Amino acid sequence: MEQYAIKGGNPLVGDVEIGGAKNAALPILAASTMTDETVFIENMPDVRDTNVLLEAMQHIGVMIKRPDRHSVILNSGNINNLVVDTEGIKKIRASYYLLGALLGKYKCAEVALPGGCDIGCRAIDQHIKGFRALGAEVMIEHGLIKARAQKLVGSHIYMDVSSVGATINVMMAAAMAEGMTIIENSAKEPHVVDLANFLNSMGANIKGAGTDVIRIRGVQKLHGSEYAIIPDQIEAGTFMFAAAVTKGDVTVKNVIPKHLESITAKLLEIGCEVEEADDCVRVVASKPLNHTQVKTLPYPGFPTDMQPQITVTLALSRGTSIVTESIFENRFKYVDELTRMGANIKVEGNTAIIDGVEKYTGASISAPDLRAGAALVIAALAAEGLTTVDDIKYIERGYEDFHLKLKNLGAMIEVVQTEKDIQKFKLRVG
Ligand code: EPU
Repeated sequence: MEQYAIKGGNPLVGDVEIGGAKNAALPILAASTMTDETVFIENMPDVRDTNVLLEAMQHIGVMIKRPDRHSVILNSGNINNLVVDTEGIKKIRASYYLLGALLGKYKCAEVALPGGCDIGCRAIDQHIKGFRALGAEVMIEHGLIKARAQKLVGSHIYMDVSSVGATINVMMAAAMAEGMTIIENSAKEPHVVDLANFLNSMGANIKGAGTDVIRIRGVQKLHGSEYAIIPDQIEAGTFMFAAAVTKGDVTVKNVIPKHLESITAKLLEIGCEVEEADDCVRVVASKPLNHTQVKTLPYPGFPTDMQPQITVTLALSRGTSIVTESIFENRFKYVDELTRMGANIKVEGNTAIIDGVEKYTGASISAPDLRAGAALVIAALAAEGLTTVDDIKYIERGYEDFHLKLKNLGAMIEVVQTEKDIQKFKLRVG
C-alpha cells in the first residue's frame, strides 16, 4: 500500500501554484450533462474525486475528451442511461450532483447514495425536500436515490441548514424547471457561485448566488459553454498553514485572496505575516506562533475543510487554543493520530482544547479522511524525525500532486510502498 514517508524539520520556502477547486469542479462536471451541446472546461483539477465522477458520466454515455491534464471537453448529447450506479460513484459525495442535473434535464434520474469522507452524519433531507418542492417524487430504494417528475415547477424553498450540496443540487434542477424558484438560506460558498456562473454561461437565469437568497428563473434549454473553474480555496489554505506550521515563507499563487480572508485573518492573529497581491498570497512565519480561538462556520466564516489544518498549527503554538467544529459532528478523528506525534489536545463534543507543545515527533500514522490527512502531513513536515502516513488515497481524492508540490517547497517527502523504500528514504534524507 502506498504511504508517504516524511522527514520533518525543513521550513517550506518558495512558490506553489494552486489548481482548480475540486468542490466547484464536481458540480460543474455534473451540470455539463444538462446540455446536448459541447462544453469545454479549463482549470480542472486532476484528482481522484473528479476522475471518479468523469468515469461515471462516461458510463451513462457522456463523451469525454481530455486535451490536456487540466482541460476537459464533454458532450452529453447521447446520454443513454439515467441510472448512475458504478462501483466508484458510491464512494464519492458528489455523485448526487448527477441527480439534480439529470432530474433538471430529463425529469428522471437514479443515483447511488453518496459516500464521501467519514466526518459524521451527512444527511440529504434538504436535497430531497428541495426536489419534492419542485414537484419531483423522490424515493430511496436498494441503495439508490430515485427522483422523477412529470414536470418541475419553480417553488419557494427554505433550507433548514445552509447546505452546499443541497443548494447546488436544487439550483441545478430548478435551472430547467418552469417558472421561478427562490432558495432561502442558501449556501454562499465560492463553489456555489462558480456553479451559478457556469450555469448562467450555459444560458441559465440565476441571480443572487453568493448571498443567502438565490433566484432561479427556469429555462427550457441550456447551451454549450467554455468555462474556467475557480482556484481551490482549501488547497490554497492548506499550503498557507503548511507555511505557518513549518515556520516557512511560501507564496501561494493562482488564488482569489477574497476567498481566503477568514484563513488570512487567523494566520495574522497567530503571528504570521500575510501579504496579498492580485492573485497570490505570501505567508511568512518568522516568529513563534500564538494561540487563538476559532469556530468553523459556513462561508464567509472559517471553513470546516480547514479545521484540521488550523488545529495542527495551534497545537504547536504558545498557550491554549480552542477550536469549535460547528458543521460536522465527527471531524476530530485525526486528533488521536496527532496525539501520537506529541500534541496535547482534549476533545469534548465538538470542541478541541489545545495546549500548545514545543514540538511534534515523527510516528506511523494514518490519514482518516481527505483534509485531516493533509493536515497530518503538514504536522509531519514540522515534526522531529520520520513519519509515515498511510491511507494516502484519501488525500489524493482532493489534492493534486500534493507531495510533489510540497517537495518543490523543500519538504522531504516521498511516496513509498515497502519497508525497503522507507529504509532507502531514511538513508537519503539522513
Ligand atoms: N445537512 C443536512 N441535510 C442536508 C444536507 C446537509 O442536515 O440535506 C447538514 C450536514 O449534515 C452538515 C451541514 O448540513 O452538518 C453542511 O453540509 P453540506 O451539505 O454543506 O456539506 P456537503 O455538501 O456534504 C460540501 C463539501 C465538503 C465541505 C462541506 C461544507 C463537496 C463535494 N463537499 O459537503 O467538502 O466540508 O460542503 O463546506 O463539495 C472536502 O472537500 O473535504 C469536504 C468534505
